[in-house]
Amino acid sequence: MTQQTPIIQPPTIQPIRIFDTTLRDGEQSPGVALNHTQKLEIAHQLARLGVDVIEAGFPIASPGDLEGVSRIAREVRGPIIAGLARANRADIEAAAKAVELAERPRIHTFIATSPIHMAKKLNMEPGAVVERAIEAVRLARTFVDDVEFSAEDATRSEWPFLAHIFKATVEAGATTINVPDTVGYTTPEEMRALFAFLKGELPDHVILSAHCHDDLGMAVANSIAAAQGGARQIECTINGIGERAGNAALEEIVMAFHTRKDHYGFETAIRTREIYRASRMVSRLSGMPVQPNKGVVGDNAFAHESGIHQDGVIKARETYEIMNAELVGREAAVLVMGKHSGRAAFRKALTDLGYDVAEDRIKEMFARFKDLADRKGQIYADDLRALVDSRTDIPQTFVLEKFQITSGTDMQPLAYVRVTTPDGPREATSSGDGAVEAIFHALNKVTGIAPELEVYRVQAVTKGTEALGEVSVNTRYGEISIHGTGVAPDVVEASARAWLRVINQIVAGMGKSRQISQTTV
Ligand code: KIV
Ligand code: ZN
Repeated sequence: MTQQTPIIQPPTIQPIRIFDTTLRDGEQSPGVALNHTQKLEIAHQLARLGVDVIEAGFPIASPGDLEGVSRIAREVRGPIIAGLARANRADIEAAAKAVELAERPRIHTFIATSPIHMAKKLNMEPGAVVERAIEAVRLARTFVDDVEFSAEDATRSEWPFLAHIFKATVEAGATTINVPDTVGYTTPEEMRALFAFLKGELPDHVILSAHCHDDLGMAVANSIAAAQGGARQIECTINGIGERAGNAALEEIVMAFHTRKDHYGFETAIRTREIYRASRMVSRLSGMPVQPNKGVVGDNAFAHESGIHQDGVIKARETYEIMNAELVGREAAVLVMGKHSGRAAFRKALTDLGYDVAEDRIKEMFARFKDLADRKGQIYADDLRALVDSRTDIPQTFVLEKFQITSGTDMQPLAYVRVTTPDGPREATSSGDGAVEAIFHALNKVTGIAPELEVYRVQAVTKGTEALGEVSVNTRYGEISIHGTGVAPDVVEASARAWLRVINQIVAGMGKSRQISQTTV
Protein backbone atom coordinates (compact mmCIF):
# COMPACT_ATOMS: atom_id res chain seq x y z
CA MET A 1 0.00 0.00 0.00
CA THR A 2 1.43 3.40 -0.93
CA GLN A 3 1.42 6.01 1.76
CA GLN A 4 -0.50 9.19 0.97
CA THR A 5 1.16 12.49 1.84
CA PRO A 6 -1.41 14.38 3.93
CA ILE A 7 -2.37 17.73 2.48
CA ILE A 8 -1.92 20.25 5.26
CA GLN A 9 -4.04 23.34 4.79
CA PRO A 10 -2.29 26.43 6.13
CA PRO A 11 -4.60 28.11 8.66
CA THR A 12 -6.34 31.22 7.38
CA ILE A 13 -4.63 33.98 9.25
CA GLN A 14 -7.05 36.27 11.06
CA PRO A 15 -6.04 39.80 12.08
CA ILE A 16 -6.41 40.75 15.75
CA ARG A 17 -6.58 44.42 16.71
CA ILE A 18 -4.53 45.49 19.67
CA PHE A 19 -6.28 48.02 21.88
CA ASP A 20 -3.73 49.38 24.32
CA THR A 21 -5.05 50.73 27.61
CA THR A 22 -1.73 51.38 29.37
CA LEU A 23 -2.60 55.07 29.64
CA ARG A 24 -6.06 54.42 31.11
CA ASP A 25 -6.43 51.08 32.91
CA GLY A 26 -2.64 50.88 33.29
CA GLU A 27 -2.57 54.29 34.89
CA GLN A 28 -5.13 53.01 37.40
CA SER A 29 -2.36 50.84 38.92
CA PRO A 30 -1.89 51.75 42.57
CA GLY A 31 0.81 54.41 42.93
CA VAL A 32 1.11 55.22 39.23
CA ALA A 33 0.79 58.89 38.27
CA LEU A 34 1.96 59.87 34.81
CA ASN A 35 2.20 63.53 33.84
CA HIS A 36 1.11 64.81 30.41
CA THR A 37 4.56 64.76 28.88
CA GLN A 38 5.14 61.20 30.04
CA LYS A 39 1.76 60.12 28.67
CA LEU A 40 2.48 61.75 25.36
CA GLU A 41 5.86 60.06 25.18
CA ILE A 42 4.31 56.66 25.87
CA ALA A 43 1.57 57.35 23.32
CA HIS A 44 4.19 58.09 20.64
CA GLN A 45 5.94 54.84 21.51
CA LEU A 46 2.65 52.94 21.29
CA ALA A 47 2.13 54.41 17.83
CA ARG A 48 5.64 53.29 16.83
CA LEU A 49 4.83 49.87 18.25
CA GLY A 50 1.87 49.70 15.89
CA VAL A 51 -1.09 49.32 18.27
CA ASP A 52 -4.45 49.79 16.57
CA VAL A 53 -6.11 51.74 19.38
CA ILE A 54 -4.70 53.85 22.20
CA GLU A 55 -7.09 54.38 25.09
CA ALA A 56 -5.56 57.66 26.20
CA GLY A 57 -7.44 58.26 29.45
CA PHE A 58 -10.67 59.00 31.25
CA PRO A 59 -11.36 62.65 30.36
CA ILE A 60 -14.11 63.33 32.92
CA ALA A 61 -11.71 62.46 35.77
CA SER A 62 -10.26 65.98 35.83
CA PRO A 63 -9.51 68.94 33.53
CA GLY A 64 -5.91 67.67 33.56
CA ASP A 65 -6.96 64.23 32.30
CA LEU A 66 -9.07 65.82 29.59
CA GLU A 67 -6.12 67.95 28.47
CA GLY A 68 -3.82 64.90 28.55
CA VAL A 69 -6.12 62.90 26.23
CA SER A 70 -6.67 65.89 24.01
CA ARG A 71 -2.93 66.45 23.57
CA ILE A 72 -2.47 62.83 22.53
CA ALA A 73 -5.44 63.18 20.14
CA ARG A 74 -3.86 66.28 18.58
CA GLU A 75 -0.32 65.01 18.33
CA VAL A 76 -0.28 61.24 17.87
CA ARG A 77 -0.99 59.98 14.38
CA GLY A 78 -1.74 56.42 13.25
CA PRO A 79 -3.76 54.61 15.90
CA ILE A 80 -7.39 55.30 16.81
CA ILE A 81 -7.45 57.47 19.96
CA ALA A 82 -10.14 56.49 22.45
CA GLY A 83 -11.45 58.29 25.54
CA LEU A 84 -13.37 56.40 28.24
CA ALA A 85 -16.77 57.55 29.49
CA ARG A 86 -19.35 56.13 31.87
CA ALA A 87 -22.82 55.97 30.37
CA ASN A 88 -23.86 59.52 31.17
CA ARG A 89 -23.96 62.86 29.34
CA ALA A 90 -21.16 64.63 31.24
CA ASP A 91 -18.68 61.78 30.74
CA ILE A 92 -19.53 61.38 27.06
CA GLU A 93 -19.28 65.08 26.35
CA ALA A 94 -15.89 65.23 28.10
CA ALA A 95 -14.64 62.23 26.09
CA ALA A 96 -15.96 63.75 22.85
CA LYS A 97 -14.18 67.01 23.53
CA ALA A 98 -10.95 65.24 24.40
CA VAL A 99 -10.78 63.14 21.23
CA GLU A 100 -12.28 65.67 18.81
CA LEU A 101 -8.97 66.50 17.14
CA ALA A 102 -7.84 62.92 16.72
CA GLU A 103 -7.26 61.62 13.22
CA ARG A 104 -9.51 58.66 14.14
CA PRO A 105 -11.46 59.37 17.33
CA ARG A 106 -13.35 56.77 19.38
CA ILE A 107 -15.62 57.09 22.40
CA HIS A 108 -15.62 54.08 24.69
CA THR A 109 -18.62 54.03 26.98
CA PHE A 110 -19.56 51.42 29.56
CA ILE A 111 -22.01 50.38 32.23
CA ALA A 112 -22.04 47.38 34.58
CA THR A 113 -24.26 44.42 33.70
CA SER A 114 -23.67 41.77 36.39
CA PRO A 115 -26.46 41.23 38.94
CA ILE A 116 -24.18 42.26 41.80
CA HIS A 117 -22.98 45.47 40.12
CA MET A 118 -26.46 46.49 38.96
CA ALA A 119 -28.05 45.88 42.37
CA LYS A 120 -25.28 46.96 44.75
CA LYS A 121 -23.25 49.52 42.85
CA LEU A 122 -25.63 51.13 40.39
CA ASN A 123 -28.83 50.46 42.30
CA MET A 124 -30.59 50.11 38.95
CA GLU A 125 -33.00 47.60 37.44
CA PRO A 126 -31.66 45.67 34.41
CA GLY A 127 -34.19 47.39 32.11
CA ALA A 128 -32.96 50.82 33.19
CA VAL A 129 -29.35 49.75 32.60
CA VAL A 130 -30.20 48.77 29.03
CA GLU A 131 -31.97 52.10 28.46
CA ARG A 132 -29.01 54.03 29.83
CA ALA A 133 -26.59 52.08 27.62
CA ILE A 134 -28.69 52.79 24.51
CA GLU A 135 -28.88 56.52 25.32
CA ALA A 136 -25.14 56.66 25.96
CA VAL A 137 -24.26 55.00 22.66
CA ARG A 138 -26.72 57.21 20.75
CA LEU A 139 -25.26 60.32 22.34
CA ALA A 140 -21.70 59.19 21.62
CA ARG A 141 -22.65 58.57 17.98
CA THR A 142 -23.67 62.22 17.64
CA PHE A 143 -19.98 63.08 18.15
CA VAL A 144 -18.08 60.22 16.47
CA ASP A 145 -18.71 57.29 14.12
CA ASP A 146 -16.58 54.91 16.11
CA VAL A 147 -18.24 53.94 19.41
CA GLU A 148 -17.24 51.07 21.65
CA PHE A 149 -19.61 49.76 24.29
CA SER A 150 -18.43 47.69 27.28
CA ALA A 151 -20.51 45.69 29.73
CA GLU A 152 -18.52 46.03 32.93
CA ASP A 153 -18.20 42.74 34.86
CA ALA A 154 -19.49 40.93 31.77
CA THR A 155 -18.06 37.58 32.78
CA ARG A 156 -20.23 37.54 35.91
CA SER A 157 -23.29 38.68 33.95
CA GLU A 158 -26.09 36.46 32.65
CA TRP A 159 -25.41 35.49 29.05
CA PRO A 160 -28.94 36.17 27.70
CA PHE A 161 -28.85 39.62 29.35
CA LEU A 162 -25.45 40.31 27.80
CA ALA A 163 -26.72 39.31 24.35
CA HIS A 164 -29.75 41.56 24.87
CA ILE A 165 -27.80 44.69 25.91
CA PHE A 166 -25.20 44.14 23.20
CA LYS A 167 -27.85 43.81 20.46
CA ALA A 168 -29.54 46.96 21.72
CA THR A 169 -26.29 48.96 21.79
CA VAL A 170 -25.28 47.71 18.35
CA GLU A 171 -28.65 48.89 17.04
CA ALA A 172 -28.00 52.23 18.74
CA GLY A 173 -24.71 52.52 16.82
CA ALA A 174 -21.93 50.75 18.72
CA THR A 175 -19.35 49.32 16.34
CA THR A 176 -17.15 47.46 18.86
CA ILE A 177 -18.55 45.39 21.71
CA ASN A 178 -16.20 44.80 24.60
CA VAL A 179 -16.57 41.96 27.08
CA PRO A 180 -14.51 42.73 30.18
CA ASP A 181 -13.47 40.20 32.75
CA THR A 182 -13.37 43.11 35.17
CA VAL A 183 -12.47 41.12 38.27
CA GLY A 184 -10.27 38.47 36.65
CA TYR A 185 -12.74 35.69 37.47
CA THR A 186 -13.25 33.77 34.26
CA THR A 187 -11.40 30.78 32.79
CA PRO A 188 -10.17 30.18 29.23
CA GLU A 189 -12.87 27.57 28.56
CA GLU A 190 -15.64 29.89 29.75
CA MET A 191 -14.24 32.81 27.82
CA ARG A 192 -14.04 30.91 24.55
CA ALA A 193 -17.58 29.63 24.98
CA LEU A 194 -18.93 33.09 25.87
CA PHE A 195 -17.38 34.65 22.76
CA ALA A 196 -18.62 31.84 20.53
CA PHE A 197 -22.11 32.42 21.97
CA LEU A 198 -21.96 36.21 21.47
CA LYS A 199 -20.61 35.84 17.96
CA GLY A 200 -23.65 33.77 17.10
CA GLU A 201 -25.96 36.44 18.54
CA LEU A 202 -24.49 39.59 16.99
CA PRO A 203 -24.25 40.80 13.38
CA ASP A 204 -21.02 39.97 11.55
CA HIS A 205 -19.81 43.56 11.17
CA VAL A 206 -19.51 43.97 14.97
CA ILE A 207 -15.97 43.67 16.33
CA LEU A 208 -15.97 41.63 19.52
CA SER A 209 -13.35 42.64 22.04
CA ALA A 210 -11.88 41.05 25.19
CA HIS A 211 -10.59 42.96 28.23
CA CYS A 212 -9.12 40.65 30.87
CA HIS A 213 -7.77 41.33 34.34
CA ASP A 214 -5.14 39.15 35.92
CA ASP A 215 -6.42 38.42 39.42
CA LEU A 216 -5.96 34.66 38.94
CA GLY A 217 -2.99 35.02 36.61
CA MET A 218 -5.10 34.01 33.59
CA ALA A 219 -5.55 37.32 31.75
CA VAL A 220 -3.35 36.37 28.79
CA ALA A 221 -4.81 32.85 28.52
CA ASN A 222 -8.34 34.24 28.77
CA SER A 223 -7.64 36.86 26.07
CA ILE A 224 -6.28 34.21 23.72
CA ALA A 225 -9.27 31.98 24.42
CA ALA A 226 -11.56 34.92 23.63
CA ALA A 227 -9.85 35.28 20.25
CA GLN A 228 -10.40 31.56 19.62
CA GLY A 229 -14.07 32.10 20.40
CA GLY A 230 -14.38 35.03 17.98
CA ALA A 231 -12.84 38.18 19.53
CA ARG A 232 -11.04 40.33 16.96
CA GLN A 233 -9.83 43.03 19.37
CA ILE A 234 -7.85 42.46 22.54
CA GLU A 235 -7.47 45.10 25.22
CA CYS A 236 -4.18 44.92 27.06
CA THR A 237 -1.36 46.95 28.60
CA ILE A 238 2.42 47.09 28.36
CA ASN A 239 3.96 44.91 31.09
CA GLY A 240 0.41 43.96 32.10
CA ILE A 241 0.06 46.94 34.43
CA GLY A 242 -3.41 47.96 35.56
CA GLU A 243 -6.03 47.97 38.26
CA ARG A 244 -5.16 45.50 41.12
CA ALA A 245 -3.24 42.53 39.62
CA GLY A 246 -3.22 44.29 36.26
CA ASN A 247 -4.46 43.61 32.74
CA ALA A 248 -3.41 41.10 30.09
CA ALA A 249 0.17 41.83 29.04
CA LEU A 250 0.39 43.08 25.45
CA GLU A 251 3.85 41.64 24.83
CA GLU A 252 2.83 38.12 25.90
CA ILE A 253 -0.30 38.03 23.75
CA VAL A 254 1.49 39.43 20.72
CA MET A 255 4.43 37.06 21.02
CA ALA A 256 2.14 34.07 21.63
CA PHE A 257 0.30 34.85 18.39
CA HIS A 258 3.59 35.48 16.59
CA THR A 259 5.45 32.43 17.86
CA ARG A 260 2.49 30.07 17.56
CA LYS A 261 0.92 31.40 14.39
CA ASP A 262 0.91 27.79 13.17
CA HIS A 263 -1.41 26.89 16.03
CA TYR A 264 -3.60 29.96 16.54
CA GLY A 265 -3.68 31.43 13.05
CA PHE A 266 -3.81 35.01 14.38
CA GLU A 267 -1.61 37.96 13.60
CA THR A 268 -1.34 41.49 14.90
CA ALA A 269 0.11 44.64 13.35
CA ILE A 270 2.59 45.04 16.20
CA ARG A 271 6.22 45.82 15.28
CA THR A 272 7.72 43.34 17.69
CA ARG A 273 11.14 45.02 17.69
CA GLU A 274 9.60 47.97 19.52
CA ILE A 275 8.33 45.82 22.40
CA TYR A 276 11.32 46.01 24.71
CA ARG A 277 11.67 49.75 24.41
CA ALA A 278 7.97 50.20 25.17
CA SER A 279 8.34 47.93 28.19
CA ARG A 280 11.36 49.80 29.58
CA MET A 281 9.74 53.17 28.97
CA VAL A 282 6.51 52.23 30.73
CA SER A 283 8.37 50.67 33.63
CA ARG A 284 10.56 53.73 34.13
CA LEU A 285 7.89 56.35 33.71
CA SER A 286 5.29 54.51 35.78
CA GLY A 287 7.76 53.45 38.46
CA MET A 288 6.50 49.85 38.21
CA PRO A 289 9.40 47.42 37.91
CA VAL A 290 9.12 44.38 35.66
CA GLN A 291 9.62 41.09 37.51
CA PRO A 292 12.85 39.42 36.30
CA ASN A 293 11.09 36.19 35.31
CA LYS A 294 8.33 37.92 33.34
CA GLY A 295 7.76 36.46 29.85
CA VAL A 296 9.25 38.34 26.85
CA VAL A 297 10.43 41.48 28.69
CA GLY A 298 11.75 40.25 32.08
CA ASP A 299 15.51 40.51 32.68
CA ASN A 300 15.83 36.73 32.73
CA ALA A 301 13.53 35.98 29.81
CA PHE A 302 16.50 35.19 27.55
CA ALA A 303 19.09 34.27 30.19
CA HIS A 304 20.22 30.65 30.32
CA GLU A 305 21.64 29.65 33.68
CA SER A 306 22.08 25.90 33.76
CA GLY A 307 25.14 24.38 32.08
CA ILE A 308 23.01 21.98 30.05
CA HIS A 309 20.90 24.82 28.68
CA GLN A 310 23.93 27.01 27.96
CA ASP A 311 25.61 24.16 26.14
CA GLY A 312 22.47 23.58 24.07
CA VAL A 313 22.11 27.26 23.16
CA ILE A 314 25.74 27.47 22.08
CA LYS A 315 25.23 24.49 19.78
CA ALA A 316 21.89 25.68 18.43
CA ARG A 317 19.90 28.55 19.86
CA GLU A 318 16.57 26.91 19.08
CA THR A 319 17.30 24.12 21.58
CA TYR A 320 16.09 26.33 24.41
CA GLU A 321 14.90 29.55 22.76
CA ILE A 322 11.48 29.68 21.15
CA MET A 323 11.96 33.28 19.97
CA ASN A 324 15.09 35.31 19.75
CA ALA A 325 15.84 38.39 21.78
CA GLU A 326 16.38 40.67 18.77
CA LEU A 327 12.84 39.97 17.61
CA VAL A 328 11.50 41.87 20.63
CA GLY A 329 14.16 44.58 20.40
CA ARG A 330 16.56 43.34 23.05
CA GLU A 331 20.17 44.11 22.30
CA ALA A 332 20.70 45.57 25.74
CA ALA A 333 24.08 44.09 26.51
CA VAL A 334 25.74 45.68 23.50
CA LEU A 335 28.37 48.21 24.42
CA VAL A 336 27.58 51.36 22.55
CA MET A 337 29.73 54.19 23.81
CA GLY A 338 32.50 55.50 26.01
CA LYS A 339 33.84 58.79 27.23
CA HIS A 340 35.58 59.55 23.93
CA SER A 341 32.39 59.31 21.93
CA GLY A 342 31.41 62.57 20.29
CA ARG A 343 28.08 64.30 19.92
CA ALA A 344 27.41 62.86 16.43
CA ALA A 345 27.99 59.31 17.70
CA PHE A 346 25.76 60.02 20.68
CA ARG A 347 22.97 61.28 18.42
CA LYS A 348 23.37 58.23 16.14
CA ALA A 349 23.23 55.83 19.10
CA LEU A 350 19.98 57.43 20.22
CA THR A 351 18.53 57.14 16.71
CA ASP A 352 19.63 53.49 16.50
CA LEU A 353 17.82 52.84 19.74
CA GLY A 354 14.74 54.42 18.16
CA TYR A 355 14.71 57.73 20.05
CA ASP A 356 13.69 60.87 18.28
CA VAL A 357 15.13 63.53 20.58
CA ALA A 358 14.68 67.22 19.77
CA GLU A 359 17.93 69.04 18.94
CA ASP A 360 17.62 71.45 21.89
CA ARG A 361 17.41 68.47 24.24
CA ILE A 362 20.46 66.72 22.75
CA LYS A 363 22.81 69.34 24.17
CA GLU A 364 21.64 68.91 27.75
CA MET A 365 21.56 65.11 27.43
CA PHE A 366 24.99 64.96 25.86
CA ALA A 367 26.42 66.90 28.81
CA ARG A 368 24.79 64.38 31.16
CA PHE A 369 26.11 61.49 29.04
CA LYS A 370 29.68 62.88 29.16
CA ASP A 371 29.49 63.24 32.90
CA LEU A 372 28.28 59.64 33.26
CA ALA A 373 30.86 58.29 30.82
CA ASP A 374 33.61 60.04 32.80
CA ARG A 375 32.43 58.49 36.04
CA LYS A 376 31.31 55.09 34.80
CA GLY A 377 33.51 54.35 31.78
CA GLN A 378 31.46 52.12 29.51
CA ILE A 379 27.94 53.09 28.53
CA TYR A 380 25.57 50.34 27.39
CA ALA A 381 22.31 50.54 25.47
CA ASP A 382 20.32 50.18 28.70
CA ASP A 383 22.30 53.04 30.28
CA LEU A 384 21.43 55.25 27.34
CA ARG A 385 17.78 54.27 27.61
CA ALA A 386 17.78 55.15 31.31
CA LEU A 387 19.40 58.46 30.54
CA VAL A 388 16.89 59.39 27.86
CA ASP A 389 13.87 58.19 29.82
CA SER A 390 14.93 60.17 32.89
CA ARG A 391 15.46 63.36 30.94
CA THR A 392 13.98 66.55 32.17
CA ASP A 393 10.47 67.06 30.90
CA ILE A 394 9.31 69.32 33.69
CA PRO A 395 10.20 72.91 34.53
CA GLN A 396 13.45 72.87 36.49
CA THR A 397 12.80 75.30 39.32
CA PHE A 398 15.38 73.54 41.49
CA VAL A 399 18.52 71.95 40.05
CA LEU A 400 20.90 69.86 42.13
CA GLU A 401 24.31 71.49 41.99
CA LYS A 402 26.15 69.49 44.60
CA PHE A 403 25.67 67.36 47.66
CA GLN A 404 27.75 65.75 50.37
CA ILE A 405 26.95 62.94 52.78
CA THR A 406 28.67 62.17 56.06
CA SER A 407 27.68 58.81 57.48
CA GLY A 408 29.13 55.87 59.35
CA THR A 409 28.27 53.10 61.78
CA ASP A 410 28.49 55.30 64.88
CA MET A 411 26.95 58.53 63.66
CA GLN A 412 23.69 59.87 62.40
CA PRO A 413 23.95 60.52 58.63
CA LEU A 414 24.18 64.18 57.68
CA ALA A 415 23.47 65.59 54.21
CA TYR A 416 24.50 68.92 52.71
CA VAL A 417 22.85 70.07 49.46
CA ARG A 418 23.25 73.06 47.21
CA VAL A 419 20.62 73.73 44.54
CA THR A 420 20.28 76.47 41.97
CA THR A 421 16.97 78.30 41.75
CA PRO A 422 15.75 81.18 39.57
CA ASP A 423 16.59 83.45 42.55
CA GLY A 424 20.12 82.16 42.98
CA PRO A 425 21.73 79.26 44.83
CA ARG A 426 20.46 77.89 48.15
CA GLU A 427 22.06 75.50 50.62
CA ALA A 428 20.82 73.36 53.49
CA THR A 429 22.02 70.64 55.84
CA SER A 430 19.89 67.99 57.50
CA SER A 431 20.11 64.62 59.19
CA GLY A 432 18.10 61.42 58.77
CA ASP A 433 18.01 57.77 59.84
CA GLY A 434 19.93 56.87 56.70
CA ALA A 435 21.87 58.72 54.00
CA VAL A 436 18.88 58.72 51.63
CA GLU A 437 16.53 60.08 54.27
CA ALA A 438 19.06 62.75 55.23
CA ILE A 439 19.30 63.99 51.64
CA PHE A 440 15.51 63.98 51.25
CA HIS A 441 15.22 66.10 54.42
CA ALA A 442 17.91 68.50 53.19
CA LEU A 443 16.09 68.91 49.85
CA ASN A 444 12.80 69.52 51.68
CA LYS A 445 14.49 72.20 53.73
CA VAL A 446 16.17 73.94 50.82
CA THR A 447 13.02 73.96 48.64
CA GLY A 448 10.42 74.44 51.39
CA ILE A 449 8.43 71.49 49.99
CA ALA A 450 8.08 68.20 51.87
CA PRO A 451 6.40 65.35 49.98
CA GLU A 452 5.63 62.14 51.88
CA LEU A 453 7.46 59.05 50.66
CA GLU A 454 5.19 56.07 49.96
CA VAL A 455 7.37 53.70 47.92
CA TYR A 456 11.13 53.75 47.35
CA ARG A 457 12.75 51.40 44.85
CA VAL A 458 16.28 51.10 43.62
CA GLN A 459 17.61 48.90 40.85
CA ALA A 460 20.74 48.57 38.78
CA VAL A 461 20.33 49.54 35.13
CA THR A 462 22.86 46.98 33.90
CA LYS A 463 24.86 44.19 35.54
CA GLY A 464 28.09 44.67 37.52
CA THR A 465 29.21 46.94 40.34
CA GLU A 466 29.80 49.88 38.02
CA ALA A 467 26.12 49.84 36.91
CA LEU A 468 24.03 52.99 37.05
CA GLY A 469 21.57 53.05 39.93
CA GLU A 470 17.99 53.90 39.09
CA VAL A 471 15.81 55.16 41.91
CA SER A 472 12.06 55.44 41.71
CA VAL A 473 9.94 57.15 44.36
CA ASN A 474 6.16 57.26 44.73
CA THR A 475 5.11 60.13 46.91
CA ARG A 476 2.08 61.94 48.22
CA TYR A 477 1.70 65.68 48.62
CA GLY A 478 -1.68 66.47 50.18
CA GLU A 479 -4.20 64.86 47.85
CA ILE A 480 -1.75 64.55 44.96
CA SER A 481 0.32 61.49 43.95
CA ILE A 482 3.63 62.21 42.28
CA HIS A 483 6.23 59.83 40.95
CA GLY A 484 9.87 60.60 40.24
CA THR A 485 12.90 58.73 38.95
CA GLY A 486 16.58 59.53 39.07
CA VAL A 487 19.57 57.87 37.46
CA ALA A 488 23.21 58.20 38.57
CA PRO A 489 26.26 56.04 39.28
CA ASP A 490 25.70 56.78 42.97
CA VAL A 491 22.48 55.62 44.62
CA VAL A 492 22.25 58.62 46.97
CA GLU A 493 22.63 60.98 44.02
CA ALA A 494 20.01 59.03 42.03
CA SER A 495 17.72 59.32 45.08
CA ALA A 496 18.29 63.07 45.30
CA ARG A 497 17.52 63.47 41.58
CA ALA A 498 14.31 61.44 41.91
CA TRP A 499 13.23 63.50 44.94
CA LEU A 500 13.96 66.80 43.24
CA ARG A 501 12.00 65.66 40.22
CA VAL A 502 9.01 65.16 42.51
CA ILE A 503 9.49 68.59 44.08
CA ASN A 504 9.79 70.28 40.66
CA GLN A 505 6.54 68.62 39.58
CA ILE A 506 4.82 69.91 42.72
CA VAL A 507 6.06 73.41 41.96
CA ALA A 508 4.77 73.05 38.38
CA GLY A 509 1.35 71.94 39.64
CA MET A 510 1.72 68.44 38.15
CA GLY A 511 0.72 65.06 39.62
CA LYS A 512 -2.41 62.93 39.86
CA SER A 513 -5.24 63.89 42.17
CA ARG A 514 -6.18 61.04 44.47
CA GLN A 515 -9.72 62.24 45.08
CA ILE A 516 -10.45 62.14 41.38
CA SER A 517 -8.78 58.84 40.79
CA GLN A 518 -11.12 57.30 43.39
CA THR A 519 -14.08 58.29 41.24
CA THR A 520 -12.70 56.34 38.29
CA VAL A 521 -14.16 53.01 37.27
O1 KIV B 1 -12.20 46.26 33.66
C1 KIV B 1 -13.15 46.89 33.15
O2 KIV B 1 -14.31 46.48 33.21
C2 KIV B 1 -12.85 48.13 32.48
C3 KIV B 1 -13.92 48.71 31.62
C4 KIV B 1 -14.07 50.16 31.81
C5 KIV B 1 -13.64 48.36 30.19
O3 KIV B 1 -11.73 48.63 32.56
ZN1 ZN C 1 -10.27 47.10 33.20
